[in-house]
Amino acid sequence: MPHITVKPFDTSHIEGEYNSTKVLFTAKDSHSEDELIAVHHEDESFLLHIKKSSKDSWLVKYDKVTRPLKVNLLKQAIADISDGLKLDVLQSNITIHPNKPLLANAYEKSIEDFDNIIYPFDSVAIEVGFGSGKHLLYQAEKNPDRLFIGIEIHTPSAAQVLKQIELLGLKNIWVVNYDARLLLEMIPSNLCYQIFVHFPVPWDKKPQRRVISSSFLKESMRVLEKGGRLELRTDSYKYFWYALDTFLGEKVVKTSVEIRKNEALEVTSKYEARWLKQEKDIYDVYVTCAEDSEERVLDFNFSFKELSYKNETLDKISYKPIIFEDSFIHFERVFKIKDDAILIKLAFGSFDRPEHKFIYMDKTESYYFHSNPVKTVTNFKTHLKIMEHLHV
Ligand SMILES: C[S@@+](CC[C@H](N)C(=O)[O-])C[C@H]1O[C@@H](n2cnc3c(N)ncnc32)[C@H](O)[C@@H]1O
Repeated sequence: MPHITVKPFDTSHIEGEYNSTKVLFTAKDSHSEDELIAVHHEDESFLLHIKKSSKDSWLVKYDKVTRPLKVNLLKQAIADISDGLKLDVLQSNITIHPNKPLLANAYEKSIEDFDNIIYPFDSVAIEVGFGSGKHLLYQAEKNPDRLFIGIEIHTPSAAQVLKQIELLGLKNIWVVNYDARLLLEMIPSNLCYQIFVHFPVPWDKKPQRRVISSSFLKESMRVLEKGGRLELRTDSYKYFWYALDTFLGEKVVKTSVEIRKNEALEVTSKYEARWLKQEKDIYDVYVTCAEDSEERVLDFNFSFKELSYKNETLDKISYKPIIFEDSFIHFERVFKIKDDAILIKLAFGSFDRPEHKFIYMDKTESYYFHSNPVKTVTNFKTHLKIMEHLHV
């Protein structure tokens, strides 16, 4: 990922325009020396992180929560600021190819796009966590009349597959760089023919991070059309049994589940090839959707209304997670933007599908920087609690 190491510089008055990058504000961490630079570049707003690693050198890099998918945007923003402020660069891994056009990326979709997106194909399939994208690209090439929505949380993998789509000239893939567990809630009911979950991370020690859960099953069945299938493929015996328990357990009244062992698919992902070499067993579990679901109305407003920053706001922020029955709020860090504004980094929402966001607050307004949370019932309920909590 692009970054530069620079000699320390004065960050106090750097708001302004540098080539095509606008610095909106800087924010100082209240618990360390680190700072954030909020930038706007090519219609996207995101944060850069200044890590003050030593008194002689600072690292300027991306921020994980707001990172744009196009690495070129990050590179250009860092380079613009570095050139504009005439920073003393000690080390850099940024090479910009000025003549190389940015990818058109008409197939990159953001979570906000799903607010009122038009699905240009009658048939739709989803792949969750596509990794290198081998299976996703194969399916899209094989089924040109079906739209494939690939959802991948790992930004470099998503960017890599976007390049492949461009090279292969595929017109029926959308790539979304987000947590699939949240995105699924934005998809209309009865839309999909298939949902692939191939080799999800087993997360044996942190089960709340698993993709498969009762709520994921429920959402999948809502999103699938009648007769559509959720297809899990795993090399983990433990995860296989966990998934079966989720698909057949107490919370499920009626279902149709099919199991296969060591079934070869037409395409083998890089990841699967590794296990096959080691002669590991591979399990498939297919769950078929038995009925149509009701349409879902997502009419949530994530505005903070008249909530604004007051001197007492800081006293209200506790760094201990606040736990409710089915959700939580964890204010992780507060960054100060001069004396009259702050940026709060927080995680919130449901335990198995948390949101990670920043809230900007000044004396007149508050908003999520740089985008609103995903429109889920739990996120909205938690948003109301956040508002209550920050109100003084
Ligand atoms: C073990 S890899 C398997 C990749 C690919 N399916 C394959 O078969 O080679 C799991 C992938 O799932 C992605 N992933 C994990 N949790 C996710 C989530 N909640 N939403 C979207 N992608 C996720 C990871 O980033 C990783 O690329």
